[in-house]
Amino acid sequence: MRPAMRVVSGIQPTGNLHLGNYLGAIVSWVKMQEEGECLFFLADLHAISMPYEPAELASATREMTAALIASGIDPDKAVLFNQSRVPAHAELQWLLCGTARIGWLNRMTQFKDKSGKNREGASIALFAYPVLQAADVLLYRATHVPVGEDQKQHLELARDIAEKFNFDTGTETFTLPEPYIGETAARIMSLRNGSAKMSKSDPSDMSRINLADDADTIAKKIRKARTDPEPLPESLDELNDRPEAKNLVAIFAALEQVAPQAILDRFAGKGFGDFKPALADATVATLAPISERFNALREDTDALDAILEKGAERAKALGTPVLADAYRALGLLSGR
Ligand code: TYM
Repeated sequence: MRPAMRVVSGIQPTGNLHLGNYLGAIVSWVKMQEEGECLFFLADLHAISMPYEPAELASATREMTAALIASGIDPDKAVLFNQSRVPAHAELQWLLCGTARIGWLNRMTQFKDKSGKNREGASIALFAYPVLQAADVLLYRATHVPVGEDQKQHLELARDIAEKFNFDTGTETFTLPEPYIGETAARIMSLRNGSAKMSKSDPSDMSRINLADDADTIAKKIRKARTDPEPLPESLDELNDRPEAKNLVAIFAALEQVAPQAILDRFAGKGFGDFKPALADATVATLAPISERFNALREDTDALDAILEKGAERAKALGTPVLADAYRALGLLSGR
């Protein structure tokens, strides 16, 4: 029997884990590992779709593994692995390329953002990236995929691919995955610009809070975060045209795991001079223990490698039968 809840999600091992990743996705991962069967992976195959430094990819993958464990992912509960160690991801991507339509991929906003003005010079991998992402979740018949808002379009594509594949082959090979997007922290914005998301690719380090930032750096980034001169209002509606203020309230609420209104109830009428130090304290209180665990784990590359190896074996065992079903559904004489 298939498990009632099969949770699958990934993160690219490029740069540091930042507060947007943590509040937007990882907090849900940690909760969901108590509720269902979970697979979480370092999307190292995705990382090669953009220019990158080969000599640094393996260590970035280990570092992100350490960051996830430090954030509360328990490799004994969740299956934790790096994507490139489970060849079925790449294999299934090719099988799904027969189903995915060029028109569907042309609509992907992330490709447009990342290729910018150089569309013709972008890699095929960057264009085909959402098909790999579909393979990532369909391979395990994921039911729930916890992500931030920016990944929603990719998951809708994964559903479209699954539906067309099942229809075209007259089978029920794939389960349609549901994106799971938390409310408060679905889209954490840059500290410098309330209309750009917090991102590891932003050239300004002041735009984001990294897991590895120390308390002084966090306090400085929050002190310098862009805001407006108005005091905090009583109701959330009044924040609608104040994107920077709205973002800081959302971050505070997500850190304290309360509704944004509860933060306004505390700070209504107060200015950012009162609000920012309290936000800095809350951020440090959440991140300091994570960063301490991260520093203890990151040097032990043998232990991290052993975790990833064991995770990959478990993932292979779960994905292999589904991959075999996909070969069979397509009529391939693969011997799988
Ligand atoms: P990535 O590595 O960019 O981000 C990892 C997770 O963090 C979320 N996130 C945010 N959430 C809220 N506010 C932000 N500012 C913010 N920035 C990032 C992302 O939504 C994501 O959940 N393509 C994916 C990785 C991936 C994947 C998958 C995810 C590959 N295969 C299969 C789910 C299922 C990516 O680049 O995420």
